[in-house]
Amino acid sequence: MAESTNVHSENKGGILFITIQRESKLNALNFATLDEIKTIFDEVNDNREIKGVIITGAGEKAFVAGADISEIAELSEVNARKFAENGQEIFQMIESCHKPVIAVVNGFALGGGCELAMACHMRIATANAKFGQPEVNLGIIPGYGGTQRLTILIGRGKANELMMTGDMISAEEAKTLGLVNHVASNKEDALQKAEDILGKIMDKAPLAIGMIVDCVNSVYTNDENGYLIEANSFARCVKSDDFAEGTSAFLEKRKPDFKGE
Ligand code: COA
Repeated sequence: MAESTNVHSENKGGILFITIQRESKLNALNFATLDEIKTIFDEVNDNREIKGVIITGAGEKAFVAGADISEIAELSEVNARKFAENGQEIFQMIESCHKPVIAVVNGFALGGGCELAMACHMRIATANAKFGQPEVNLGIIPGYGGTQRLTILIGRGKANELMMTGDMISAEEAKTLGLVNHVASNKEDALQKAEDILGKIMDKAPLAIGMIVDCVNSVYTNDENGYLIEANSFARCVKSDDFAEGTSAFLEKRKPDFKGE
């Protein structure tokens, strides 16, 4: 992966670690940072060396404290629409990625930061993490898919409360609401938990993992019949070499060796 200014990415043992690194601005997402995230995800699906992704923020204080307010402040109406559509498109790339993507939320995940975490397939929070959609404090609303994903994840009433009040919630409360999968005491433990989960997934059949992503995402897409997608994906899995390997390995009482084919 190419090195970039605001985002560091490094493949360690099949896991691509993506770190947003604008620590002096609490890792706020400016346009350049979003572009760099897009460039990285353009490659992830087709790169066979990458089996899973972890996204985190540099330092201990913030995952991402939102879109960069100094840039939002300058937006015209036309550019604001483009701004939202661009962010939505990049976060959809993450959500539809066929490799598992876990957010390790190490501190503030506000506005676009909470939206980025929600676009990932799972979230592990550090105990000091704080989640919120404080856009109303600026006279705007979430624009990177937050109104949709937050409602899906925690339900209408709580999503309305968080977005209308702009309140922040703790990692434990986020876990109770279903916004995060696990809470770890510190960043190191949170990264370890994410690596443990990815380690389990990396032993499974890659095609099946990608199809789980498609089927789960189809639940939330109005123009798709999720049951049809599930049946088609199931049939595609049965056609794969990995299915032959998985069933043979079970019958031969050995560990399967999946190739993603
Ligand atoms: N956009 C741009 N800059 C941001 C930012 C954002 N979303 N969030 C934080 N920063 C910058 C601050 O301006 C400050 O920069 P400076 O040192 O050059 O002045 C730096 O990051 C540190 O932030 P600071 O506010 O001093 O830290 P804090 O500990 O006092 O407060 C927060 C932390 C997260 C509560 C506070 O920074 C905040 O409310 N940020 C905005 C959150 C937000 O509204 N996000 C949604 C945007 S749509």
